[in-house]
Amino acid sequence: MACCKGKDLRLLFWVPWTLLVASCLTYFYYEFLGPENCTHVGCAVEYFRPEISEPSPPGAPFAPLYNDTRRIAVCLVGGARMFELTGRTLRKNLLDVYNNTDVFLHSPLDRDSHKLTLLAGRNLRVARIFTPEPLPESPLVAEVMTSWGSPHGTQGLLQYFNLVEGCYGMVRKYEVLHKFRYDWIIRTRVDGYWNGPLPEIQTLDPKYYYVAAGNDFGGLNDRFGMGNPHTSRVANARLSMLPAMHKHGWRLLNSESAYKAQFELLNVGYKRIQIPFCVMTLRREAFPPAPYGLLMLSMAGEGPMSGTYCRPCDREANVTYSREIVDNCMRNWDWPGVMASKVTVCDAGNEWASNWRQIAAEVYERDMNGEEMPDFDYRSLRRCIKEMQDFQMQWDVWDAPSASAICRRAYTR
Ligand SMILES: *[C@@H]1O[C@H](CO)[C@@H](O)[C@H](O)[C@H]1NC(C)=O
Ligand SMILES: *[C@@H]1O[C@H](CO)[C@@H](O)[C@H](O)[C@H]1NC(C)=O
Ligand SMILES: *[C@@H]1O[C@H](CO)[C@@H](O)[C@H](O)[C@H]1NC(C)=O
Repeated sequence: MACCKGKDLRLLFWVPWTLLVASCLTYFYYEFLGPENCTHVGCAVEYFRPEISEPSPPGAPFAPLYNDTRRIAVCLVGGARMFELTGRTLRKNLLDVYNNTDVFLHSPLDRDSHKLTLLAGRNLRVARIFTPEPLPESPLVAEVMTSWGSPHGTQGLLQYFNLVEGCYGMVRKYEVLHKFRYDWIIRTRVDGYWNGPLPEIQTLDPKYYYVAAGNDFGGLNDRFGMGNPHTSRVANARLSMLPAMHKHGWRLLNSESAYKAQFELLNVGYKRIQIPFCVMTLRREAFPPAPYGLLMLSMAGEGPMSGTYCRPCDREANVTYSREIVDNCMRNWDWPGVMASKVTVCDAGNEWASNWRQIAAEVYERDMNGEEMPDFDYRSLRRCIKEMQDFQMQWDVWDAPSASAICRRAYTR
């Protein structure tokens, strides 16, 4: 696929380049990645079926889903925008499925940060909640990266890379301080809605780095990744590898193709795996999605959705139409990483429905064994501060503003 790598390109030549890429994609789609031809890269994903978990009675001792004593670090990155929907699902399906999972959090401070108290629970290690500063956009970065398709431009990409690499740095520092190494390091986003448990690590080969299937956008899905300390170092070096990529002639990469370039440059093998979460977003998207547009799914879909964008959906495409849309997703672009029968496309042309809470609560209760969806509208400032103080005490390291500063931000508009 040498013609698709995007090496040595200059902006001046974007027209022929676009045509070349489009014809390349079309060619490869029909040649290799059509739905009927599933032995090739794009759809050769490790299939994973979430198990149905038994509800555990309140107050019961902690009982992990999998019997495995390896040490795992989970890095959660990003802002807590819709954390009332995602927070407890992360706790249940990612942080509590193994006995020895340590939690690291790297999140920009905003008026949703108070919602992070939903992470309360076991093994909270290092939290860093910080005021974001603009990162320098050097000429080198401008040449290696393109901001096309990134909602907040190059700066948004840099901020995201910084969240990821910074969180990995927090894990490393913790390892050095405590003189041990994790067996696996998992990195994902706080805006992930998980409707099934993480795959069993026993079934994975530690020689590879695992990324979520689908949503490749011409590279590799960058919304979830897990691997051993060596492969994780490469996968999470999102900012620090830009100069090396520049030197080797990589140009005009988006986040996903830069991610893939990291593995190729340092010769780290990766595999795609289906992961049962979708990324909760307030974005609006044209319906039906335009070619090279973004697919939006209903959070109610069975999945696994491998990190595709989703929302509580009031206008779902019917089964036939959903299938038609998903089957038309270009296989190394916006394909959700799972067959169309398992997901439902959502018409996201408008804002979230005014009754989104009711729509979401129904799905949430189904996926969370009847647990009620949290609602912060009824939390007073005083209670927020109290809960935030308790939460702060649960962390080994709290590198963040005070409980009252975080809570006050939520109440000042
Ligand atoms: C868990 O693993 C340990 C050691 O491998 C084994 O002795 C034990 O029986 C296992 N427990 C369950 C519930 O499978
Ligand atoms: C979890 O690990 C701890 C030690 O790290 C051990 O004492 C405990 O028995 C384990 N619990 C389960 C349920 O495996
Ligand atoms: C499904 O939706 C499409 C597009 O809105 C519509 O044309 C079609 O008639 C619907 N099919 C059924 C079985 O409702």
